[in-house]
Amino acid sequence: MRRNRAPEIEIKTPAQLELMREAGLVVAQMLRATSEAAGPGVSTADLDAVARQVLRDAGAKSSFLGYHGYPATICTSVNCQIVHGIPDAGVKLAAGDLLSIDAGAIVGGWHGDAAVTIAIGAASDSALALLAACELALWRGIAAARLGARLTDVSRAVEESAESSGEYGVVREYTGHFIGSAMHMDPPVPNYGRPSRGPALLTGMAMAIEPMLTLGDRRTRLLDDEWTVETQDGSLAAHFEHTVAITEEGPWVLTAVDGGAAGLRQMSELTREPVARGA
Ligand code: MF3
Ligand code: CO
Repeated sequence: MRRNRAPEIEIKTPAQLELMREAGLVVAQMLRATSEAAGPGVSTADLDAVARQVLRDAGAKSSFLGYHGYPATICTSVNCQIVHGIPDAGVKLAAGDLLSIDAGAIVGGWHGDAAVTIAIGAASDSALALLAACELALWRGIAAARLGARLTDVSRAVEESAESSGEYGVVREYTGHFIGSAMHMDPPVPNYGRPSRGPALLTGMAMAIEPMLTLGDRRTRLLDDEWTVETQDGSLAAHFEHTVAITEEGPWVLTAVDGGAAGLRQMSELTREPVARGA
C-alpha cells in the first residue's frame, strides 16, 4: 500500500529528451498550421485534418487519437468551452470567437503536448486581456520550473500571475501533468495552491504546464459527449500549455520553436532575474 510514498517521476536521459524535443517541435508545427488555417467559416474538423497532415508529414503519431477512446487528433474548444472540445464538421468558426487548440505528438515513443488560444478575427478587449493573462500565467509557471524548486512553486506562480492580472477564474478541476513515455503521468500539476510543496524538480523531469482561465467563475461542467469541458456560468475561457523539461541550464520549453528563449527572457525582464537557456 505505498500510500505515503512520493510518486516516482520519470527521469529522461538526454537522448530521450531529444526525442521529446522532436515531438515538441511537431506539436509546435501542428499548432502553427491549425492557427493559420483557422478563420471565419472554417470548421473545427477542417483543423483536425490540418493537424493530421502535419503529423503524417513528420512521420509522428497523435498522443490524443484513441486516448481513452478520444476520437480526434486535436482538441478544439470554442468560447465558453475550456478544454477537450471534439473537432466537428458542424462547428464553423465565426469572427469574434475564441478558439483553444490543443495538440499532442509522439516521436519514437516520447510525447509532446501544447495548446494555444486564439481570437478568430477581432475579439473584444476583455477577451484579448483574458488570452494575455492566461499566456502570461503559463510563462510565469514555466519560469518557476527550475532546479531547486518544488512542484507547487510552479502551481503558485501560475495562480499568482493570474490573480495579479485581474479578476479571472482559475480552473481547478483540470490540471497540468508530468509527461514523457506517456502523455499524462503523475503527479498532476495544479494551477493553484501553496508553494514549496510536492516533489523537488530534478534534471530530466518533464511537465506539461497548462493554465485555464475564465472571464467569470472558475467552476466547470462536462458535456454529454463526456469530453468537452465548459464554464458553468457560460463565461469565455482560455487555455495555454507547453511541455517543459527541467535542465541544469533552466527550463527547456520543448514545444516552443526557440526552446522558450524569448518567453523566458521576457519573464526575467519583468522580474529582473537572471535567465535560462535557449534552444
Ligand atoms: N492536452 C490535453 C491535456 O493534457 C490532452 C487532451 S485529452 C485527449 O489535458 F483525450 F484529447 F487526448
Ligand atoms: Co496536457
